Amino acid sequence: MRVKAVRGTRDITPDEMPKWRYVEEVARDIFRRYGYREMRTPTFEHTELFIKGTGETTDIVEKEMYTFTDKGGRSITLRPEGTPAIVRACLESGLLGSLPVLKLAYIGQMFRYDRPQAGRYREFWQIGVEAFGSDNPAIDAEVTQLAYQLMREIGLKGLSLDINSIGCNRCRPRYVEHLREFGRRHIDRLCGKCVDRLDRNPLRILDCKEERCRIVTKEAPVILDYLCDECRSHFDRFKRYLEELDVPYSVNPRIVRGLDYYTRTVFEITAEGLGAQNAVVGGGRYDYLVEQMGGKPTPALGFAAGLDRIIASLDAQGFRFPTAEGIDCFVAVIDEAFGDALGLTDKLRSEGLSVEMEFRGRSLRAQMKTADKLKARFVAIVGGEEMKEGKVALRNMETGEQTDVPFDQVARVLKG
Ligand code: HAM
Repeated sequence: MRVKAVRGTRDITPDEMPKWRYVEEVARDIFRRYGYREMRTPTFEHTELFIKGTGETTDIVEKEMYTFTDKGGRSITLRPEGTPAIVRACLESGLLGSLPVLKLAYIGQMFRYDRPQAGRYREFWQIGVEAFGSDNPAIDAEVTQLAYQLMREIGLKGLSLDINSIGCNRCRPRYVEHLREFGRRHIDRLCGKCVDRLDRNPLRILDCKEERCRIVTKEAPVILDYLCDECRSHFDRFKRYLEELDVPYSVNPRIVRGLDYYTRTVFEITAEGLGAQNAVVGGGRYDYLVEQMGGKPTPALGFAAGLDRIIASLDAQGFRFPTAEGIDCFVAVIDEAFGDALGLTDKLRSEGLSVEMEFRGRSLRAQMKTADKLKARFVAIVGGEEMKEGKVALRNMETGEQTDVPFDQVARVLKG
């Protein structure tokens, strides 16, 4: 029996790769323009990092982590998200505090043992940014605008940006208590999960996807009515700056996010063409996380965009990806002239050209078919009478024209 890919994982084939590269290139260009430096952290960490960082009452930590004991007896977890790892790395390397505002970006795989469905995988890719050191709502606007601009420059259509504020440690507890009381009054109308959430993490009843819960929570108290003066003023300024940047947004009190570390600003971006799993970006502020993980109090915020979903959405929207298809030259071989063919191929490649050659000694007809399939601009036929005069027959595949060209002139003609 053949071994198959693990459920919830998939291969990105060479045909698909240009799409991924395209999105990553757009992202890297945006990182550069906005001053975010890219970094990489390991794909696995001590389990404790996510329990502390992502939060004990989150679905991610409770149900979705790939956790195992390594041969040294350590509890290890494949990272379900990037933020706690970036914070850890910053604390460990002393990066935090190296600049008044530290801006970092990453692109990498994340792992969550979630129920696979369209747009939801157990291994998926995120593009993320994190900015440390400022509690000014101007940076909330910059980060949110960056996310929106990234989606726009990638070419996604039908974007919606939903924003909310979930307050701070001073104003949120009173709201959570009122929300819990509200939930208890309507407990028989909520789904089983939400009944459970009332004890552990009442905010999450607001983003439950079950219709019956959505009907109930329409009447629920709204956090924006409970914000303290500082949080309210922060949110008002954030909205004003977004308007100044011409970023269209909707205030949506249901956006509470599934991770425990958020404070104040939270946001999500959805795109057309994705069905139920339509969030392409999720992010927000997390002003207590650095301190909670052993650093100095440091305000921070960031977001992550799902690469898999971005590409699925572009495909669904009929987006035409720029492709760098085809090669410059296929070196066909006759009369067993593999030595000369290797030499020519090497010379052309060292001139920066993309070149493929025949390795199976097939008929010229079969080789020409391969050249077509590879979308070669030229075919250089090595061997035969021409070779004796130090020449190769060079065929322009577009015009069908064929000329004999001296061996050392082929690169010049191809580049011409
Ligand atoms: P998140 O909302 O859990 O946030 O994930 C961000 C994005 O990753 C989602 O909007 C979605 O596009 C993608 N995503 C999540 N789970 C899956 C999955 N199973 N399959 C495919 N795509 C998925 C975070 O991870 C936070 N660390 C974001 C952040 C950074 N907040 C502050 N800084």
